[in-house]
Amino acid sequence: MKHTVQTLQQQKREGKKITMLTAYDYSTAQLVDKAGIQTILVGDSLGMVILGYDDTLSVTMEDMIHHTRAVTRGVNDAFVVADMPFMSYQSSVYDAVVNAGRLMKEGHCDAVKLEGGSHMCPQIEAITKASIPVVGHIGLTPQSIHMLGGFKVQGKTVKAAQKMIDDAKAIEQAGAVAIVLECVPALLAKRITEVLTIPTIGIGAGADTDGQVLVYQDLLGMFTEFTPKFVKHFDHIGDRMVEAFIDYKKQVETGQYPGVEHTFAISDDVLGKLY
Ligand code: KIV
Repeated sequence: MKHTVQTLQQQKREGKKITMLTAYDYSTAQLVDKAGIQTILVGDSLGMVILGYDDTLSVTMEDMIHHTRAVTRGVNDAFVVADMPFMSYQSSVYDAVVNAGRLMKEGHCDAVKLEGGSHMCPQIEAITKASIPVVGHIGLTPQSIHMLGGFKVQGKTVKAAQKMIDDAKAIEQAGAVAIVLECVPALLAKRITEVLTIPTIGIGAGADTDGQVLVYQDLLGMFTEFTPKFVKHFDHIGDRMVEAFIDYKKQVETGQYPGVEHTFAISDDVLGKLY
């Protein structure tokens, strides 16, 4: 069953948790979709986990379209959300609509995600009017890392917490279909989830949001340069990959691989005629 804005919002109404994972390529998207995860985020986190940048700021529209296209080719059922990269929507409402349109038209995503509170409402309204569903993203917004002074929990003072509630309401009012809450104290995320009718998807926002999202390399234990507090390694695939690569190296070096069963035959008759 293809997941849509309507089925996700229905899940919130029925109190059924929404699962979201990142994916950036065709084969991973196929596996995530096969696992029944309802939503896939082609996050601009690809700048860090795929392209090796220190943050998400260098990610381009071309990067996002390229990876979104690969993901959507691998998906049957999941609702695919593509991140709008830094400076593809902050500059103007016009840029926001044009670039959201490119992500949908060329990347074939089902929705776009952009970061920021009430100051992004004109962009959210305009993209929504163009019939492109928008997912908001508040709390720790990595594209504003230089303004925020680092990857830190947000909303810890009365002023900041109230602003986050007001931002969430404004984003819903502007037409967003869901909101990601990143690095938000659990009880504040719970409060925001209760006052909104659209689903909240948390990352580092406790257990009471309508859904959860993780970067899949974090979940699988593949990206160990930095492990935020909210990450749980559900496996240690990174270590297992290194073991397999070492095994491959050894088998090639000792002639154990490839074996006869991995090779193609040619008849003696053909061989005999060669000079
Ligand atoms: O880019 C991303 O992967 C994200 C998630 C961390 C929510 O925005």
